[in-house]
Amino acid sequence: MRAYDVIKKKRDGGELSEEQIRFMVDGFTKGDIPDYQMSAWLMAVYYMGMSAEETFALTKTMTESGDRLDLSGISGIKVDKHSTGGVGDKTTFIVGPLLAALGVPVAKMSGKGLGHTGGTIDKLACIPGFNVELAQKDFIKNVNDIGMAIASQTGNLAPADKKIYALRDVTTTVDSIPLIASSIMSKKLASGADIIVLDVKCGSGAFMKDFEGAIALAKTMTDIGQLYGKPTHALVTDMDEPLGHMVGNSLELKEAVRVLSLKDVRAAVAEDRGLARLVEVCVKLTTVSLMLAEKARSLEDKAVLADIGVDPERIAGYEARVIEAIENGSGLAKLAEVVERQGGDKDYILHPEKLPVAPVRVPVKASTDGYLTACRAEEVGMTNLILGGGRATKESAIDVTVGAELLRCLGEPVKKDQPFAYIYAAGDKPEVIDEAVRRLTGAYEISAVNTAEKRLTTPVVMEYI
Ligand code: URA
Repeated sequence: MRAYDVIKKKRDGGELSEEQIRFMVDGFTKGDIPDYQMSAWLMAVYYMGMSAEETFALTKTMTESGDRLDLSGISGIKVDKHSTGGVGDKTTFIVGPLLAALGVPVAKMSGKGLGHTGGTIDKLACIPGFNVELAQKDFIKNVNDIGMAIASQTGNLAPADKKIYALRDVTTTVDSIPLIASSIMSKKLASGADIIVLDVKCGSGAFMKDFEGAIALAKTMTDIGQLYGKPTHALVTDMDEPLGHMVGNSLELKEAVRVLSLKDVRAAVAEDRGLARLVEVCVKLTTVSLMLAEKARSLEDKAVLADIGVDPERIAGYEARVIEAIENGSGLAKLAEVVERQGGDKDYILHPEKLPVAPVRVPVKASTDGYLTACRAEEVGMTNLILGGGRATKESAIDVTVGAELLRCLGEPVKKDQPFAYIYAAGDKPEVIDEAVRRLTGAYEISAVNTAEKRLTTPVVMEYI
């Protein structure tokens, strides 16, 4: 077999066999196929797409390219919640502890952020002493002992994806449904959970900018999971503006703690749209995960695991339990327990004012009276990157204390010369502050007519698949 022929076949719209896909992926991972041929192949896939069978073969090959975590030492049904990447997404710190507090084991492998999206592991770096480099036996022991552990993804989980992703990043071949689906699902399948729940982001801050694309990505990923024998479910959620008020590592962790500290969830969200958006996504993700895990646990015949689904008529009961786990503080106590178990100072969770925030707070003011009607959410993520809070390359060091606080959501009014957001900066480089303010101001449109009013009552969870 020759790479030349496989590239040509895909370029001309042909369907590749599993053997041909394996030849390309394994050859590139081992270094036998050079970057220029793999780049050409990726571009051919980008333009010609892949059938369901090809996408599944690509995922399977990448899953099998490295280690696969064996989580069988953890008793119970393990659920892995994963987001496709957005701005202000701190759901892992809320969903994980809530599930663990409700008796569902959470064995979470997470990555660092890249580009405009943040990473769970970076947010944990705000807590002194927190160790994300857990040996597998400690990872498993922690989940068995206290219900949850969060560790940095091991070097050898889906190494083919790691190498291919780096090439996609520099050849503008990231935003392709078969390539995103296989990249995410290969890591999820290698991570060993029993059930996968995906949060597929849709909008200006997501890879998938429109609803049809997000649905197609969600369906592609759930189909891959089911074909692999893992029940995989997805929520498609709005990312046309950041999730919650805070963007930036320490600020996001603070906001997650705020949600887990709510004493009356309904009252709090009734008067705060930003908080309501975040709470809705977290509660729905936790509810679906809890229901699937409990249904799976009660199955006598695990062979029918793939058939479990969400019963709409029973959802309210599960949701009530999730809200109760917030209001009675058990989710917050679980997060503090995880932090302590992994060597961190739990006071940073129990007294979140200890979480470090950059010293210079700069208002971002509206240029005119009106309403926020559109947001380029990716630009809000870029503001954090400019301030030093995000990674331009995998090796970049980051400042976890910087970021942005968004005071208003789309559809809400703003007043001329009044702040609609703040940025938090180190303050040593005035030109960085100027650029961040310019970027954040330019990320929003302000209009006299409120064309975004409907968003104030539209659910953030757009679809369940
Ligand atoms: N996240 C991934 O892991 N891979 C992609 O291709 C996109 C988002």
